Amino acid sequence: MSTSTEASALAIDDRTASLLFRDAHTAYAFTDQPVTDEQLAAIYDLVRHAPTAMNSQPLRITYIRSEAAKARLLPLLAEGNRPKSASAPVVAILAADTDFHENFARVLPQLPGAKEKFADDDARAQAAKFNASLQAGYFIIAARAAGLDAGPMGGFDKAGIDAEFFAGTALRSLLVVNLGYVTESGRNPRNPRLEHDEAVTVL
Ligand SMILES: Cc1cc2nc3c(=O)[nH]c(=O)nc-3n(C[C@H](O)[C@H](O)[C@H](O)COP(=O)(O)O)c2cc1C
Repeated sequence: MSTSTEASALAIDDRTASLLFRDAHTAYAFTDQPVTDEQLAAIYDLVRHAPTAMNSQPLRITYIRSEAAKARLLPLLAEGNRPKSASAPVVAILAADTDFHENFARVLPQLPGAKEKFADDDARAQAAKFNASLQAGYFIIAARAAGLDAGPMGGFDKAGIDAEFFAGTALRSLLVVNLGYVTESGRNPRNPRLEHDEAVTVL
């Protein structure tokens, strides 16, 4: 397990920090061990608390688990990504609901005019993508918190997935995330990360 000189500044224990961040890697090949419904429910129970602009919560998650659903998904992935998803017991398609504003009366009751602020289709689609992408980051951390390995992938036919899985809806695909338990050889060595002073400015 990795340790860090920064660990003492954290409010979570070192094991948890390593599980969620330091030792967690993008996974490319998975064992046969299944992902349970309880784990999927536990993931969303964490993700739902992620902050979004005006509590808009545009992320929608579609889990692909059956062989029939996998057969619909795999041809729409970049060729090199197909074996990765084929080996995953569950694949999540993360999408942004561009009609998230329909929920404001329930999720932001203190601001009755919230829906009207998002009347413009382009601005709403952009807000949906931005906020759902934030939620997607939380989704990966939540999957790790549920003891799973995650393999996010942007290499897929976006229009194809939208047509195959989201036809007639306001959902627009953002990211495909393979979920399960990584094999011995199913992850790459860590590539260099930028140092604190390269990425952070304190004014
Ligand atoms: C938005 C996004 C898109 C990605 N797309 C792909 C992809 O299409 N195929 C793939 O094999 N890996 C993909 N990756 C995986 C990244 O290359 C990987 O997360 C990164 O190199 C860090 O690897 P590490 O977690 O092992 O340090 C993607 C990751 C993210 C977050």
